[in-house]
Amino acid sequence: MPETIPTHQMLMSKIRSRQAWVGVIGLGYVGLPLAMTVARAGFAVTGFDIDPGKMVEIDAGRSYIEAVPDSILNAERQAGRFSATTDFSKLGACDVITICVPTPLTRHRDPDLSYVERTCREIAKTLRPGQLIVLESTTYPGTTDGLVKSVLEETGLKSGTDFFLGFSPEREDPGNRQFETSTIPKIVAGDGTEAGNLMAEFYGAVVKTVVPVSSNATAEAVKLTENIFRAVNIALVNELKVIYEAMGIDIWEVIDAASTKPFGYMPFYPGPGLGGHCIPIDPFYLTWKSREYELPTRFIELAGEINSAMPRHVVGRLAELLDRRLGKALSRAHVLVIGLAYKKNVPDIRESPSLKLIELIEERGGRASYYDPHVAEIPPTREYGHLKGRRSISWSEATVREFDAVLIATDHDGVDYAALAGWAPLIVDTRNIFSRLKIAGDHIAKA
Ligand SMILES: NC(=O)c1ccc[n+]([C@@H]2O[C@H](COP(=O)([O-])OP(=O)(O)OC[C@H]3O[C@@H](n4cnc5c(N)ncnc54)[C@H](O)[C@@H]3O)[C@@H](O)[C@H]2O)c1
Repeated sequence: MPETIPTHQMLMSKIRSRQAWVGVIGLGYVGLPLAMTVARAGFAVTGFDIDPGKMVEIDAGRSYIEAVPDSILNAERQAGRFSATTDFSKLGACDVITICVPTPLTRHRDPDLSYVERTCREIAKTLRPGQLIVLESTTYPGTTDGLVKSVLEETGLKSGTDFFLGFSPEREDPGNRQFETSTIPKIVAGDGTEAGNLMAEFYGAVVKTVVPVSSNATAEAVKLTENIFRAVNIALVNELKVIYEAMGIDIWEVIDAASTKPFGYMPFYPGPGLGGHCIPIDPFYLTWKSREYELPTRFIELAGEINSAMPRHVVGRLAELLDRRLGKALSRAHVLVIGLAYKKNVPDIRESPSLKLIELIEERGGRASYYDPHVAEIPPTREYGHLKGRRSISWSEATVREFDAVLIATDHDGVDYAALAGWAPLIVDTRNIFSRLKIAGDHIAKA
């Protein structure tokens, strides 16, 4: 009787020879760069997304993600290593499938795993022995071996013998040109030894450094820990900023000086509030899961409280400065918010505190406009639907001079701050950009 080769060995040799066909589900900030990195490592990749608009862009050779230049997208398409589709029946042909769909919070700030579950149900329709299924979306410990596994095992196939299941978190840093997907060390884990080995082999072929950990739950916890660490430390400097502000001490100067300590200190910087798809959201995945264990997540809650109070603090300071320096009430002022994106040099406005700043200024009777070279128009958002369709002002001396105050919310490169300092009667800077550029003036204040 001929000896049968175990499914994991067959998949392992397909990965080693780059014969494995890879499917990437969810072609957003995480999925599209990942698809390119996997394709550049020599694998054939099919991208799957429910958004037909993205297919139109990809088929026209236009990348909608800044981290992926058109040239790379087109090189991979022309080499036949990348194509994209909304036809999920093709998933059955893929040997490795990575899931990169959103994991937001619900209106009640609980984890919303509906995108992950829906994706798993699509995969289950064509699941077959010998496939490696990887969750990359950020989530609480236990999701991969719980929800994902149970949906996939409803097919009758078993994880660890028929198909293989892993978790590998994303560590993208949008706008950071120092790193790309392939140069960021990647945490990998699997459900069982074979899955773990397949994960290490696959990602080892794609990125420079893989960091295997003992279980999917550990890998899920690593990602949350990284983001909780940031949320808590940002909250700490935001709180210190408010205290030092009252004492007449410049938090930025303090941080710069503290950073000269060669050990035991790592700088974090204050801002107008937390933004983006990760830091304001991910920590609450752990909060939710911890309730099951009747354990409080006090640091996370407190950090959330402090960080979400920042936009109100900044607007309060803006009102005080308008009054003190210009004798003008915020309710009669027209304010230009600079930077709508949540961080510099990206067009992403998800959870951006700039939207909250505009809302708060207007709640107090003021008028607010914005300038952002990366965001021409405010797209539909769940929380700020009333701001939809507003457009960035066009940059000119005459336009900027119409405003009573300028509020720097995001310190994009490419904004002419020196010119701005000459045009605006009052500048309130939440990012310390003017000090960093050594532009000073009595009309420039920090917040
Ligand atoms: N953006 C980041 O910097 C970042 C960093 C680390 C981790 N993450 C995590 O990665 C995951 C994806 O985030 P993102 O920023 O890429 O989101 P995104 O919104 O940019 O992209 C998600 C994509 O998934 C698609 N999609 C939604 N439902 C789908 C479905 N059922 N089937 C197929 N496609 C579907 C959407 O159309 C979209 O193109 C999230 O869990 C996020 O927390 C994001």
